[in-house]
Amino acid sequence: MDHFTLRDGAMHAEDVPLSAIAAEAGTPVYVYSTATIERHVRVFREALAGLDDPLVAFAVKANPNGAVLATLARLGLGADVVSGGELMRALAAGVPAEKVVFSGVGKTAEEMILALREGIGQFNLESVPEADMLSDVATKLGLEAQVAFRINPNVDAGTHSKISTGRADDKFGVAYDRALDAYAHAAALPGLKVVGVAVHIGSQLTDLGPSRAAFERIGALIAELRAAGHAIATADLGGGLGVPYNPALPPPPSPADYGAMVQAVTADWNVRLIFEPGRVIVGNAGVLVTRVIRVKDGVGYPFVVVDAGMNDLMRPSLYDAWHDIRAIEPSGERATANIVGPICETGDTFARAREMDRVEAGDLVAFMTAGAYGATMANTYNSRGLTPEAIVNGEDWAIIRERQPIEALIAADTLPPWLNKEKA
Ligand code: LLP
Repeated sequence: MDHFTLRDGAMHAEDVPLSAIAAEAGTPVYVYSTATIERHVRVFREALAGLDDPLVAFAVKANPNGAVLATLARLGLGADVVSGGELMRALAAGVPAEKVVFSGVGKTAEEMILALREGIGQFNLESVPEADMLSDVATKLGLEAQVAFRINPNVDAGTHSKISTGRADDKFGVAYDRALDAYAHAAALPGLKVVGVAVHIGSQLTDLGPSRAAFERIGALIAELRAAGHAIATADLGGGLGVPYNPALPPPPSPADYGAMVQAVTADWNVRLIFEPGRVIVGNAGVLVTRVIRVKDGVGYPFVVVDAGMNDLMRPSLYDAWHDIRAIEPSGERATANIVGPICETGDTFARAREMDRVEAGDLVAFMTAGAYGATMANTYNSRGLTPEAIVNGEDWAIIRERQPIEALIAADTLPPWLNKEKA
């Protein structure tokens, strides 16, 4: 459920008409709803109510905006980070270091130093060479890193191939049948304290079966690790729970369904559970507001050309993702159209043959469910400044990232001496 609703014929974010934000911020612009974020945190926590002190570490990659992170930090969430940059953003937003988990296959020595000095809660290691590097870095600093190994359980999550992460051939984690060797190796290294296990099999999961299978394997591994003498105190079950994008499809399992499954599978694990939800917290808490530039004839259906492009919202182009597209002030008429952006690629297509509100040049349109993996994946292709973002809280709203001016893009490039006449 979200707080983007029609009132008096116009879509509002909570109590603010989206047209008011578009008028001031211009388009395209991402708009987030605080009440929706808060609701999703509450629902996720309620789903875990039977667990003893779980750590919910928001996957920063889903939406790293400082205002969004500060909203979540105030609600007491931790952070799952995958880079030094995400770590710095989480800390700057007020997430305590001990609630930070550092994931990712390619942590560098510099990132390890930063995380160790800040005193983060846990490193999720993805390989034995990474354990060797962290041991080396921690020993030189005279610090100790709390570590888990991310295990690749060889389970197909049944989601889009590009966001599946738990199949044997995917780049993530330590193979399940090599886990005992990896733990024996890490336990003997100085500067590391083995504290847990971790798993994450993919994103936008719409069936609990694969997660359940993966968690059952992790449960069996915990028993084997303990039998081998390792003190396993934490189990990080990753993120991945899907959200409803298309109202015509059956909804994905709810957080309550997910929580019940987790509680059933982990009942006798005797660990502190860690969760890394991203999309389920922020996905439906954001929309991308765009304006129709013009409507152009097509052979089949007309092309509705909007001022957002694939650089602003990459998901349809990258994963053939389906986002609901609604007029902000719908006339009640419906039409079928292709929705495209201004970018010079056919991939810059948001929807083909989509039956939706009929819109004309000048109308405002919202791409729904754009709060996760939207603004964070935006780029400047076709020399378009990064998309601005705004957040609503009841009747209040504020810009939380200004539109990047083209001058800033131009100024970021420098000329080599032979082209720089002034300095030559
Ligand atoms: N933990 C780890 C280790 C992850 O790799 C991810 C997401 C998450 C947690 C959060 O997953 P979530 O709860 O958001 O599903 N750009 C893609 C999604 C990539 C997800 C990458 N990892 C998209 O737009 O669908």
